[in-house]
Amino acid sequence: MCGIFAATGESAVADVLVEGLRRLEYRGYDSAGIAISGKGGIAVRKNVGPVGALATMLESEPAYGECGIAHTRWATHGEPSARNSHPHCAPGIAIVHNGIVENHGELRQELAARNAQFVSETDSEVIPWLVREELMRGEKPWAALQKAAARLSGSFAIAMLSEDEPGEIFAIRKGSPLVTGFTDGKAFLSSDLNALAGIARHAIALEDGDSARITPDCIDIRDHDGRIVNRPLLPVESRIATYDTGVHEHFMAKEIFEQPEVAARIDAAYHDGTLMEQLLSIDFSRVRRINFVACGTSYYAAAVARHWMQQHAGIECTVHVASEYRYEALPQFYSGEVAVLISQSGETADTLAVLERLQHLGMPVLGVVNDTNSTLARNADMALPLMAGLEIGVASTKAFTAQLMILAHLAIHATGRRLGAAASPGRLRDQLASTPDLLAKALLCEEGVIETARQLGDARSAIFVGRGPFQALACEGALKLKETSYIHAEGFAAGELKHGPLALIDEHMPVFALAGDQEMMPKLASNIREIAARNGRIHVIGDREAILSMKDVATGAITLPSAPDLVRPIITAIPLQLLSYHAALQRGLNVDRPRNLAKSVTVE
Ligand code: F6R
Repeated sequence: MCGIFAATGESAVADVLVEGLRRLEYRGYDSAGIAISGKGGIAVRKNVGPVGALATMLESEPAYGECGIAHTRWATHGEPSARNSHPHCAPGIAIVHNGIVENHGELRQELAARNAQFVSETDSEVIPWLVREELMRGEKPWAALQKAAARLSGSFAIAMLSEDEPGEIFAIRKGSPLVTGFTDGKAFLSSDLNALAGIARHAIALEDGDSARITPDCIDIRDHDGRIVNRPLLPVESRIATYDTGVHEHFMAKEIFEQPEVAARIDAAYHDGTLMEQLLSIDFSRVRRINFVACGTSYYAAAVARHWMQQHAGIECTVHVASEYRYEALPQFYSGEVAVLISQSGETADTLAVLERLQHLGMPVLGVVNDTNSTLARNADMALPLMAGLEIGVASTKAFTAQLMILAHLAIHATGRRLGAAASPGRLRDQLASTPDLLAKALLCEEGVIETARQLGDARSAIFVGRGPFQALACEGALKLKETSYIHAEGFAAGELKHGPLALIDEHMPVFALAGDQEMMPKLASNIREIAARNGRIHVIGDREAILSMKDVATGAITLPSAPDLVRPIITAIPLQLLSYHAALQRGLNVDRPRNLAKSVTVE
């Protein structure tokens, strides 16, 4: 999604801005641009397409200066085009903006009536014109930005240059992240802390409502009420994370194959329960209900965790999609109720809105989050780190299995707290410890998956079914397939088919049966037979025994190693991820950056 990078105190700032934008590329974008304060005023260069195209443009039309702002845009208002890409300008002002200005329609009308000249279709373009009006009233640039931002509804992270103060960057945020960074005589700003690795020695995250004035030697921050504030210093990685795919062709493949290593790292950190004890301030023996909230793949991890929590710890759970839960009428909460918010990025706008809402209502919130410097990690009452490492492929893979690992450890912890040794938490921990090895074995299914992807041919739809926690995996498998290969796919509880979806079955419909829930195997088998009776093309995904039990009706099979109950849902993610990867490759698609999608969804 949109990214901001800005720098001051750099002798050739254009190069630094382009490098900053390259570091934001993984988030997904469709156009890129920069503005630089130079001798002749503010120079703007922007273009639709990749950052590389902007770099080429800068070779033929260079822009010189020591201070600049830059942006990668992911279109929301107006098509991807040079005109709609950022920076946006008014005389003497250039801004870049992440977020959405919800009242841009009325502001546009009002500003146009006072001679603002809009050239784009974006919501963002009202911002420089609002700032300009404040400057005309005699405000200094920093105060002008604060006053302009006070007129905006919605969410924003804004960086601004003003010809009145060349060499300075002004910034403000509400609901969208911004981090400043500095080193000797240079200062930076970005929407993503990772972009500052190796170039800033220290970083400071702006809090909601903060604004900043950034010079090469000084970063001043004011809070929402205009008071100068000191915010804590954050650690910055000294080296940029490796943005290469290693021996793999794509980040998605690299991240799929990293999963045994990630699981081993998680198990080493969480196995004996000490880390959980240190990080949690919830007494699970008193918890009466857990409300899981997340989006997309993280939501499906929550849906699996619900089964574990209820089955082992006996705690009632609810699972919610954050975009709905942020607005839903909420029931009266119990005193022993907690929320678990799950997010890879920790910056998903809907999830953060739920965080704010629940904290306002006084409910303790536990974040399960990969980026430990993200807003969710910083603002949740407590956070469990996923330890998956930077995930660059837009389709979430290693973060999903890392979420499952952590949530399984959380369920074991809660089980031990509530039921003591009688519930054998040690046995469950031992089961989980076999995950890295079993993930490695599961990856051996790749060849079979490649063949299955081939058999999909030019299928336009696919169905995934499962029971128990495997229903959530069916939905995750369908999500993965549609996002990378653009094949329409749906996941269902297998028992639901005859209540409607069975009408979709014919000889052209591939159906993936996730045969992981051993207790429910006979039930799944009869659901599968209903599909077979309608000529559906059934691919069974499970261990040898499960596959054998459905041999007579299956068209194909993907074999997984035998695994303990708790681990089976985790390893079942592997063939689903590989299927979506290979189906996309076989269709010649960009697996790491599927169309229309962004890595971190920072707008509503
Ligand atoms: C799908 C995918 C998305 C994310 C969702 C939530 O592969 O990656 O569905 O899971 O946008 O993102 P986070 O976990 O960052 O809150």
